[in-house]
Amino acid sequence: MVASLPDNRKSGESHLFYQAHGRRPRIARAEGIYAWDVDGRRYIDASSGPMVSNIGHSNPRVLAAMKAQMDRATFAYRLHFENDAAEDLASLTASLMPPGLDRIFFTSGGSETIETCLKLARQYAIAIGQPERCKIISMTPSYHGATLGCVAVTGMSLFVEPFRAMIREMPKISAPTCYLDRDDLSLEERGRRYAEQLRERILAEGPETVLAFLMEPIGGASTGALVAPDSWYARIQEIVNEFGILLIADEVMTGAGRTGRFLGVEHWNLSPDIIGMAKGFAAGYAPLGAVAARRDIVGAVMAHGGFAHGYTYAGNPLACAAGRAVLREVLDQGLIDNAAMRGAYLRSRLDELMDRFAFVGDVRGKGLLLAFELVADRETMAPLPVETNAYLDLVEAAYQRGLIIYARRTRGGFKGDHFMVCPPLIVTDAQIDDIMDILVDSLDAFAADKGL
Ligand SMILES: Cc1ncc(COP(=O)(O)O)c(C=O)c1O
Repeated sequence: MVASLPDNRKSGESHLFYQAHGRRPRIARAEGIYAWDVDGRRYIDASSGPMVSNIGHSNPRVLAAMKAQMDRATFAYRLHFENDAAEDLASLTASLMPPGLDRIFFTSGGSETIETCLKLARQYAIAIGQPERCKIISMTPSYHGATLGCVAVTGMSLFVEPFRAMIREMPKISAPTCYLDRDDLSLEERGRRYAEQLRERILAEGPETVLAFLMEPIGGASTGALVAPDSWYARIQEIVNEFGILLIADEVMTGAGRTGRFLGVEHWNLSPDIIGMAKGFAAGYAPLGAVAARRDIVGAVMAHGGFAHGYTYAGNPLACAAGRAVLREVLDQGLIDNAAMRGAYLRSRLDELMDRFAFVGDVRGKGLLLAFELVADRETMAPLPVETNAYLDLVEAAYQRGLIIYARRTRGGFKGDHFMVCPPLIVTDAQIDDIMDILVDSLDAFAADKGL
């Protein structure tokens, strides 16, 4: 007798466990910027999930490309076969990278990607006879992934604290949160002051022990789309050059067009040595990430016995076929320009929130990586009381109205509230108006509920 699958839809019990959160409706289908639950309710995916679904849902050309690959082979282990999809996607990816970064390693997501960046940097140092270089300097707040290696470089105590005893925590400098500072300096001066922390930290650690500086060019969920003043980026590049330290760009969220350029670093002409991408890279069609590295870095590692690192699913043909078709969509549909143009419009609409709601303290970001932050006092930028639980309750108010936005605690993961409004790059101005109508309605309800 064939056992039938237990149906837990009615009983309400789920055997899944992730983080602590309530139940959600089940998805029935998704298309474009919309998703529908099994009861037929429609949601606008105004955060692209967790800033993933850059080309929108159910793109027919991507689905067809995946089907075509499925009909050929869904799996081919790299020690046994090369595959067209991975080779093509590697070439296409290399063509979109800064000059010289034309060696590509595929992963299944952001954490694997950053883990790969760290290990590649380390093996490079060993290969070129500098084995004392083992420290990766990163920032607080930052988020670089969930594996223990990524936790060691992540600056968000919420995700680090339980594991502190199990990792070798890496040195951190402050993320350039210049918008929070109240001093007499100009923004550009503040930017330089934050960048100078990197130099001081390198000197304190011993420059010969420092391997790399790891950064999100534009902050992701940990800071809420933090953009530093231009001076910060320029000075960071000077400092890594001065000490011969690798620059690793975590473009897991910013990469693949979301900020209005293919890479976030392009806004400042930075020259990273290693770049990690995921999320929008295959836009949710398959678990896929990519590392792009300088050819000589990979060459040195290969000449020194090879890269002691790998994943079973690295270069998976089905995932790579999805990624190849997604990148083609991004390029053929002009979605990078659309991110810049629609992003400017959405930004102007979000800026209007500051006129209407005194508790909206800041709007920031680039392209369609945008966020707004709620505060108790715009002058001091003091956050709302923790118990207001804005990051949960405003998201809930929006969700009840059919709008999905993404929130996190701004200050270290424990207080402060910011909300990412990052729709797919295919969004239109009319759809942005729909998003804003629901968002304003949600903020009105939230304000009434909290007495703000
Ligand atoms: C900047 C950044 N790096 C790394 C990661 C980890 O990616 P994943 O959740 O796909 O493992 C994330 C995920 O949010 C991210 O935003």
